[in-house]
Order: sequence, then C-alpha cells, then structure tokens
Amino acid sequence: MEAKRFHLGWFMNFTADLWNGPYENGGSPWDGRFYVEMAQALERACFDYVMVEDKLSVSEAYGGTTENVLTHAVGMAPKHDPAPLAALMSAGTSRLGVVITLSTLGYPPFLLARLCSTLDHIAGGRFGWNIVTSAEDAAAQNFGLDALPPRELRYDMAQEYMELVNALWDSWDRDAIVMDRERGVYADFKKVRPIDFRGTYFRSRGPLNTAPSPQGRPVFVQAGGSPKGRDFAAKHADSIITLADGIEGMKEYRDDIRARAAAHDRDPDDIKVLFLVIPTLGETVEHAYERRERVITSNVFAEQTLGLLSSITDIDFSAFEMDAELPHLTTNGEQGSLDKFQQTGSGKTLRQLVYESAEFESSYPLIGTTVTIADQMQEIMEEVGGDGFLITMHNQAVSRRQVIEVTEGLVPELQRRGLVRTEYTAPTLRENLLAF
Ligand SMILES: Cc1cc2nc3c(=O)[nH]c(=O)nc-3n(C[C@H](O)[C@H](O)[C@H](O)COP(=O)(O)O)c2cc1C
Repeated sequence: MEAKRFHLGWFMNFTADLWNGPYENGGSPWDGRFYVEMAQALERACFDYVMVEDKLSVSEAYGGTTENVLTHAVGMAPKHDPAPLAALMSAGTSRLGVVITLSTLGYPPFLLARLCSTLDHIAGGRFGWNIVTSAEDAAAQNFGLDALPPRELRYDMAQEYMELVNALWDSWDRDAIVMDRERGVYADFKKVRPIDFRGTYFRSRGPLNTAPSPQGRPVFVQAGGSPKGRDFAAKHADSIITLADGIEGMKEYRDDIRARAAAHDRDPDDIKVLFLVIPTLGETVEHAYERRERVITSNVFAEQTLGLLSSITDIDFSAFEMDAELPHLTTNGEQGSLDKFQQTGSGKTLRQLVYESAEFESSYPLIGTTVTIADQMQEIMEEVGGDGFLITMHNQAVSRRQVIEVTEGLVPELQRRGLVRTEYTAPTLRENLLAF
C-alpha cells in the first residue's frame, strides 16, 4: 500500500543563530542572508513552509530584568521584524511557502491587510500569516495598554479583526485590474469598493489600496490551544501549528480541530495540523542521546529554558527553588506549553522538570538516527492520522549544521519512503498544502 504523505514546516525566528559552539559561527544574521540560505535549504528538501515566530517585547518576566533573555539571546531578543525577512526569503526562493507571525494586538488591521497583500505578491502566492493575539503584558505595554487583555477578549477581538481584514482583501474583485490599453484604464473602479466596517473594537473604511494578491488572502496559520483558540483556528486556519503531548495528545488535538472545523461547515481535510517536534540526530542512537545529554546538561540550558518559559508565560521562574516541587501554575499567556513543561501532579522539582522536560517543546521526543526518527515519524502519522510536522531546535536557536542534518539527512530518508513530497506540484502555498 502506498504510504500516506505528510507535510513539513520549520519553526524559527529572526533572532541570533547559534554562535558559540564548535559548529556554530553565527550570531549576526541581521542582514537576513543566513536565513535566506536556510530557506533555500528547506526548499531543496521540499518543505511546505518556513514559519517565522515573533514577539513584540524584550521580556523582563524572568527575575524582573532583561538579563536572562539578552545574555543568552536564544529565541527571544534581539528579534528583528519578520516582514522584510519574508520579502528576502521569498525573493531567494521560488517554491517554498513563507509564513510570518503578525500580532492582532500590534498591527492596525488595514496595515496588516496591506502588508500581507504586498508580501503575497512578492512571494508569487507563497505567503502565509501566523495569526497571534500576543501573550505578554510587556508587548501590550509597547502599544500603549497597561496589560494584555484576557485571553477570551483577545480572541473576540481577533474574530472581529478577521472579519475586517477579510473584507479588505475582498474589497477588490480578483479581476479589477484590467490594463485596457485601448481605453487607457488600469483598474476598473466599479470593481473596488469601500467596506465601511464598524465593529466593537475596530473600524475601517476601505477599500484596501493594494492590488489583489495571487492567493487573494494569505494562507492562515494559527496555533490556538485553549477552547476558544482552537475554535478560532478551526474556523479560519489553512494550517494549524501546535505543541501536543505525545501521540494521544496529538490525536486528541487533531480530532478536536477536525470536529470543530466540521461544525463551522468546513471540510476538515482543508486544515493541515502540523505538530511541533525537535529531532535530535546522531550517527547512532547512542550518539544522538550523547548529543542531547551534552545540550541539556550544559550550565546554561536550565537558565535558557526557564528564561524562555518566563517570556511566553509571564511567570517569573527565578522565584522558584530549583530543588523544590513546582506548584501548579496558570497563565494568561501560553498555557499549553506551560502544562507540557510542568507535568502537574508529578511531584517533581524544577530541576527535574528542566531536564526531564527537555523536549517539552517537542510534541514527541525524537532522538536517534535518520532511520529511527523516520520510523517514529511514520508511526506517529499512522496513529494520529496526519497531517505533518513543524520542525524546530532546542530553544528555537539554529545552526547551519542542524539545518543540513535535517534537510540532507532526515528528509531524504522520509522521501525514500514516500512519506513527504519530492517536488512542488503547484505555484501557491495554499494549493501545495491542499495537494495531499
Ligand atoms: C508552534 C507554536 C508557535 C507559536 N508562535 C507564536 C508566535 O510567533 N508569537 C506569539 O505571540 N505566539 C505564538 N504562539 C502562541 C499561540 O498563538 C497561542 O497563543 C498559544 O498556542 C496558546 O493558545 P491560546 O491562545 O488558545 O491559549 C505559538 C504557539 C505554538 C504552539
């Protein structure tokens, strides 16, 4: 029987690449070239998309200072604007999807709709938007608010935001640009309309001032974890990215999304759920475990991990004793990641959790050779039903070597098994996602 194929994405951010280890010579990727080369490597391996994470603050959540995030500079700060990087990555590739994160908290809807339309043109229909509502008070304070609105309200606002930006993208008919040389008409003004949107939170007159883009609207990516977030994702997303807890968690999440999509009169197969995973590759399985051990027992790993966790949850992990049992914690930020880390009820100390939850950013621990990890990915997809993986590295920081190990090692092994694509069959990201 022919194997069912699955999709691949890569989760990264426009932060410093790894710079102070033996195979790590980066640290200054600010001209974008390192990440453009990375996108080219992903395209050679036929990834569906690269996904640029983003946040809008320099977090002081750990210890009340920026020391942790700036000292380690992994994943959090400095962090540059993903939109110009998306333009560079799009210009440097021709088939790969390019998805960036833009927050409904930070961007006025009109500017976001215009930016996405512009980038979808530059990418020739390969652009996607990761829709986030932001999760930190510090981000809210950068935009004039005292604190982050509660999660439920953020999603109510995001729901209205989507109605508005969709109306803006629809404010031009797809055939509005006629370029009729004889009549001297570029665009038919009768095919471009104001939207006069007046909502509870947002207002915009419209029409959008950009030409209709190749995909009409960007591919929507979302990562809702709460019930309201999942419902939002199931209603809007073309692809959902998520951090799940093991095979059971993946299955539960995907089944739930598919049921919610059907309730919104959508075909569940139109949504591709990609599970976040960190593959740790080695020449042998033992070698992979040794490499993992070296990473997670390094002096800085615990600090980096807790700094990252503090940033995404607004909880000060420096306030807890490393050798005391961690109490159950809740957050207005990323509860799912927190739950995966804290293993509530386990009675474990913070120190134990840091090391035992070293793969908490991985929906399933993948540690081994190209062959054993490909086996695991195959089995997971058979059990879960689909739709693919979103690859990342510990604390989201990456080196050229890590990218090559995946694109020239793991992916070819998956390709030999017929599990992932060996060519792009369509020009646009949305069509490639829908291809299987
Ligand atoms: C794989 C993944 C990527 C995410 N990327 C971002 C991001 O770039 N920026 C951001 O503010 N939040 C990001 N989030 C947080 C989500 O948008 C969302 O808030 C989180 O999954 C919790 O779900 P909830 O909002 O329904 O509680 C990400 C979450 C996941 C699982």
